[in-house]
Amino acid sequence: MNTSVGTLLEALPYIREFHGKTVVIKIGGAAMTDAGLTHDFAQDIVLLRYVGLQPIVVHGGGPMITRLMERLGMDVKFVGGLRVSDQATVEVAKMVLVGKQNKDIVLSLNRHGQSAVGICGDDGQLFRVRKMPTPDDVDLGYVGEIERVNVDLLRNISENYIPVIASVGADMSGQSYNINADEAAGAVAEAIGAYKLVFLTDVPGWLANPDDESSRISLASAAHVRQRLEDLSGGMRPKLAACLHAVESGVPAAHIIDGREPHSVLLELFTDEGIGTKVMP
Ligand SMILES: Nc1ncnc2c1ncn2[C@@H]1O[C@H](COP(=O)(O)OP(=O)(O)OP(=O)(O)O)[C@@H](O)[C@H]1O
Ligand SMILES: [Mg+2]
Repeated sequence: MNTSVGTLLEALPYIREFHGKTVVIKIGGAAMTDAGLTHDFAQDIVLLRYVGLQPIVVHGGGPMITRLMERLGMDVKFVGGLRVSDQATVEVAKMVLVGKQNKDIVLSLNRHGQSAVGICGDDGQLFRVRKMPTPDDVDLGYVGEIERVNVDLLRNISENYIPVIASVGADMSGQSYNINADEAAGAVAEAIGAYKLVFLTDVPGWLANPDDESSRISLASAAHVRQRLEDLSGGMRPKLAACLHAVESGVPAAHIIDGREPHSVLLELFTDEGIGTKVMP
């Protein structure tokens, strides 16, 4: 058989399965810093929309925040994969995420033929946030956790546009917080009852040994993740915590895939070849 036809036929059952379903896709790391990959990502998301899925994009921008902070001579510090955020850090995060990264993604989706609307936690009161509780000896500053997601707003936007979410938001007093984008993606997926939650990152998936890219864990149960969560470090910790929380709150599956691979979203969703790490309840 012609290989192109073969590929289309392979995609068909998946297209049928996903039709009308909401998929939350979080983009971060490498896929956001490489222009070619950003272009491929936009193509993938637009295609999802054309074949009848409802994609919701949530984005990070950690490396860009760090870069601007360094240029401004600010201290950059992480604890347990989360950025320690004083008032000035939150201000920089907001500028980079809302002012630059969010609009770049929106523009890219628009140019590929599907209009997108960029929002952050403040727009339409998408997120209500509170300070993330931490042990007494750790102060992360203004790192927030999401108390409530305005699902109505997302449904309304999704009817005609692709929502693109920057993970900052404010508490009831108007104080802004930096929110880990993985956690934001998880909260959105849970609240809207997504069919899938997909994380694009800069490694092949969850690695049993972070220094060995061939040690990818392809399938993990919630119990397995829960057991290992305490030992995890760096950016994989909030990501797996978000996967765990999502699958335990009714999202059927969460995937961590390599955003450095061109068209990784399409490969993951529409081919038999599973890439990355799949977390299931
Ligand atoms: N066990 C592990 N398996 C895989 N990656 C790990 C592991 N432990 C730590 N990491 C680190 O987690 C990083 C991915 O998280 P990181 O927060 O840096 O990126 P991101 O979440 O994709 O992007 P952003 O933070 O900009 O949204 C990897 O580059 C890797 O260095
Ligand atoms: Mg991260």
